[in-house]
Amino acid sequence: MCEVRPKGLLAWDGGQSMDRFPISSLIVTNMPQTGSTTGSVVVLVSGCGTNLQALIDAASQPGYGVQIAAVGADRDGIEGLARARRAGIPTFVCRVADFATRADWDVALAAQVAGYRPELVVLAGFMKLTGEAFLGQFGGRTLNTHPALLPSFPGIHGPKDALDYGVKVTGCTLFIVDAGVDTGPIVAQRAVSVDDDDTAEILHERIKTAERQILVDYVGRMVRDGFSVTERKVTIS
Ligand code: GRF
Repeated sequence: MCEVRPKGLLAWDGGQSMDRFPISSLIVTNMPQTGSTTGSVVVLVSGCGTNLQALIDAASQPGYGVQIAAVGADRDGIEGLARARRAGIPTFVCRVADFATRADWDVALAAQVAGYRPELVVLAGFMKLTGEAFLGQFGGRTLNTHPALLPSFPGIHGPKDALDYGVKVTGCTLFIVDAGVDTGPIVAQRAVSVDDDDTAEILHERIKTAERQILVDYVGRMVRDGFSVTERKVTIS
């Protein structure tokens, strides 16, 4: 078992309002103007990387149509990076502590990711909020996965918060990142039942099984087929 113990979500404090990066007009992927490499994604991780592993396994199948160009992290020494290295995928680390300001880190992260020319960026257990520079380049084509049925239970304690509330059904959400915390347009959701004797850890593991499935399914479909976002509605072509 690989346990992820984030030291705390460092909120990006650039003070931007959500409508600085509206995802309200039509956005279509397979965007030649971005100079991106068709089918390539960069995955960002902070911990165990089981969602990353599911993508690595899927990408090894010829028909999947997705190449993981690189895996980045905000910290070193994590299993997520080790999984990438074992698969022969380039890795990079971009640590907040190495920069004078959070905004400087965000610029550097965006530059690192841009170097791989990804079509999509996938936050797979990445425990940092991306900021203005990052969203300026990758807004509308950055996906995140959350272990609750948004808009319920956002933040870093989704499974525990759902359990404490006493819900009987929770789940996971794949969404397009915007400037808020777990507020972006929803791509896919899957329900997961809550058992009477669940702990937050047991529940989270059950949710992660569903998370990995929708992540693999929808990243593949979005890369292969393209997608559009109108207001908050995400449609895969
Ligand atoms: C996932 O549940 C993700 O939604 C949450 O952290 C977990 C990461 O798991 N933010 P893993 O590192 O992919 O195993």
